[in-house]
Amino acid sequence: MTLAPGPGIHILNDMIRDLWYAVLESVELRRGMLGVIRLGERLVFWRDSTGKVVCLYDRCAHRGASLAGGRLSGDVAACPFHGLEYDASGRCVRIPANGRDAPVPDAFRMRSYPTHEGRGPSALRPPQHDRQGQ
Ligand code: FES
Repeated sequence: MTLAPGPGIHILNDMIRDLWYAVLESVELRRGMLGVIRLGERLVFWRDSTGKVVCLYDRCAHRGASLAGGRLSGDVAACPFHGLEYDASGRCVRIPANGRDAPVPDAFRMRSYPTHEGRGPSALRPPQHDRQGQ
């Protein structure tokens, strides 16, 4: 069966993206950041200082680099290219080239996704529709 583009296909895509998905097992996310591609979308995960799972669309607001190869400092993730730092909400909190206390424009943010970590093997499930920080 061939599916032609149209309203039905669009709805199907929306339905798929509106669901929660198991993306990682809890044990896979212990230290540092981990990049995952899900439904063609690059995601980056880490745990904040309380152990809560953070998930961002993995595309730096500066030039689109992946944060997955960057470093974590407390609850902040730094991009490996120019060091922009993002909090768990996806908001850029520091642009090193601008100085320590320089203001950061609101446009410098990455999409964040809610996460849920339950018991069992498939614990982390960011829904694709509930985006924040677009
Ligand atoms: S590409 Fe991320 S800081 Fe420049």
